[in-house]
This record gives sequence, structure tokens and C-alpha cells, in this order.
Amino acid sequence: MAMNKGKAKVEKKDLPVIIELEKVSKTFVSPTGKVHQAIKDVSFKIHDLPKIGEFIIFLGPSGSGKSTVLNIIAGLIQPTEGEALFFGKPITEPGPDRGMVFQSYSSYPWLNVLENVAFGLKLRGVKKSEREDAARHYIKRVGLEGKEHFYPKNLSGGMRQRVAIARTLACKPRVILMDEPFGALDIGTRTEMQDLINEIWESIEGTILFVTHDIPEAIYLADRIYILSASPGTIKEIIQVDLPVHRSREIMRSPEFSDMEEHILDSLHKLASGGEVRL
Ligand SMILES: Nc1ncnc2c1ncn2[C@@H]1O[C@H](COP(=O)(O)OP(=O)(O)OP(=O)(O)O)[C@@H](O)[C@H]1O
Ligand SMILES: [Mg+2]
Repeated sequence: MAMNKGKAKVEKKDLPVIIELEKVSKTFVSPTGKVHQAIKDVSFKIHDLPKIGEFIIFLGPSGSGKSTVLNIIAGLIQPTEGEALFFGKPITEPGPDRGMVFQSYSSYPWLNVLENVAFGLKLRGVKKSEREDAARHYIKRVGLEGKEHFYPKNLSGGMRQRVAIARTLACKPRVILMDEPFGALDIGTRTEMQDLINEIWESIEGTILFVTHDIPEAIYLADRIYILSASPGTIKEIIQVDLPVHRSREIMRSPEFSDMEEHILDSLHKLASGGEVRL
């Protein structure tokens, strides 16, 4: 697990801020002209923990703006008000420093596994031998060795998501944005993928922002959990997950884990019923 997990020894105030949202609001106008405020005054700062990064999870009801927040950080959409900053600079467009893994399998059906994983590097002009070496490294890392010449249609859902993760990792982004990356997987494959992320997380030098609806998944993976409320989405609670550095599945049976699970469930229930939660 990430080396910073459970260790609050780094003085964060002295570290650069990798991602900052400053009173970010986003209003959408539907094709029929209806105006909808998706998020309102969302503010947070994520520091750049050297060589470690942090694992941040966004939890919240459907429509609370989790994807909107990630899309703004990815540079796919712009805030209506406020600012989203990457190392202090406004985010205006997507960039290789911020990699995204979507819920639906975002591999290219006409490219094989090797070409899919090497694709981001190809776009960046990395020469063929170099990008294929890097792709093979990450294919191995996500457990797809031997499948280099398979096409997505010959892979299971879990394998396709491994391809998407390997492609993102191959570009070594400083920030990895994952929007319900395991949402379409069956429970067994989902568990496998959580363990994969848990395992490779240690060697990724980046910050992960991850959206999920699955509370145990959130606690198992996160350093910190941001809970959003809906209509318009705002951050209602920030939970520091002070579980041990190296986590294994057994931790899910610990009293600390159950307490946290219960607390989050309670918070989400309160939000669903229109109540307030502790800030
Ligand atoms: N392009 C768009 N045009 C109009 N409305 C949008 C657009 N994108 C999002 N919205 C609206 O903004 C709100 C927040 O959407 P968002 O997708 O960020 O929620 P979410 O928390 O990711 O939900 P879910 O958990 O269902 O994925 C929703 O009410 C949604 O309908
Ligand atoms: Mg979403």
C-alpha cells in the first residue's frame, strides 16, 4: 500500500499543491435550455507527497457531481465559477500529466493489447521500440503478459479494464483520475482489480482521484474520502483513513474498518434524507 498510509509525518503545508479547487461551481444548460447547477463552491487542496502521492476517493449519491469534479480536473470541461489549478496553474485542457480511466472500457477495438497500452506514448511521439518496451512492462504489471496480441473483443471486462489502467500508467501521469473504473465488473473481478490497484499503487509516483459507490472499496483504497451531497454537489465531509500502511483484505474484518463503514453509511443516509452531516 502507499507508503504514506497511516503516516501523517510529512508536513503537508511545506509541500507543493498538486490539485486545488477554489470555490468551483459548474452549471449545465440542457438541450431544452434548462439550467442545472451540478456543483457549488467545491474547494479542496491536495498536496504533492513526494514519490508517493495520495489516494483520494469521492463518494456521494448519484448526481452529486463526482464525474463533474473529475472532468474539470481532467480539463474536459471548464468551471462556470471558481478555479481548478494543477501545480498552481489553471487547468484549461486535457494533458498527459492527468490520465483518466473511465468506467466503460476505453480501449480501441482495432488495436491489440500492446498497441492499446502504447497508444498514449505514440501520441507523445515516443519511438516504437521504446513505447513497446514500456507497454510490455505495464502489461506485465497488470497481469496481462501473454495477451499482447489479443484484441479487446477477445478479452473479459476485467482484462479490458487492466488494459485501460496499463495505458494510463504507461504515460506516468502525475494525477490519475478514475471514474468508477470497476463499476461494470462482477464482484469477483472487482475484488481482483482492487487488489491490483492496491498492489501497484506502491510503485506509482502519483496522486489518484477515484470515484466509487462502493464503501468498502473506498475505505480499502483511500488515504482520504471526500463525501459529496447532491443538488448542487458540495463537499460535506472529509474522512482521513488512518488504517495501516500495507493493507490486506483481512483489514476489512477489523473493528476500525467496520466503524468507518458504518459512519460513512450513516453520512450517506443522512444526505439521502436531506439531513446534514458533520463537517
Ligand atoms: N453535460 C451535461 N449536461 C447537462 N447536465 C449535466 C451534464 N453533465 C452532468 N450533468 C448533470 O450534473 C449533475 C452531476 O452529474 P455528475 O455526472 O457529475 O454526477 P455523479 O456524481 O458523477 O453521478 P453518478 O454517481 O450517477 O455517476 C447531474 O444532475 C447531471 O445530470
Ligand atoms: Mg459519475
